[in-house]
Amino acid sequence: MGELRLGDAVLDIGSGAGFDSLLAGRMVGPLGHVTGVDMTPEMRAKARANAALLGLANVEFMDGLAERLPLSDASCDVVISNGVINLCPDKLAVYREIHRVLRPGGRVQIADVVVQKPLPEEAVADIDLWTG
Ligand SMILES: C[S@@+](CC[C@H](N)C(=O)[O-])C[C@H]1O[C@@H](n2cnc3c(N)ncnc32)[C@H](O)[C@@H]1O
Repeated sequence: MGELRLGDAVLDIGSGAGFDSLLAGRMVGPLGHVTGVDMTPEMRAKARANAALLGLANVEFMDGLAERLPLSDASCDVVISNGVINLCPDKLAVYREIHRVLRPGGRVQIADVVVQKPLPEEAVADIDLWTG
């Protein structure tokens, strides 16, 4: 993970079991804050249990969609996301939301799958290829 600063407000889109949120929580320190947003209740429950195990009080996990983030405008210094936006059908909506929640000068760190050339229609239609 790239640089996070002490005191940063971080949003982790599609936080899953919370691994990156918890690392970020340690990096931003007690004056910083991390919000993990995930649409899957089981993943949020795992993430909360992991935060409790580590005693990280500056990390919270919220229900929400990447396409309609439950955060106010200009409330984050950094948005992180790992392996999620490729799963979102409306990627433009996700990027609009990232722009909305970031403060001026905010930063983005995304790790994801990128397709660089058009895929054959039979591959796009094969759900087994989407789910790995
Ligand atoms: C491949 S996992 C990655 C989890 C985590 N970022 C990590 O690196 O371990 C994808 C996660 O994104 C969540 N997710 C997928 N689409 C989403 C969406 N549109 N809005 C919110 N969460 C989403 C899933 O529930 C899942 O927990």
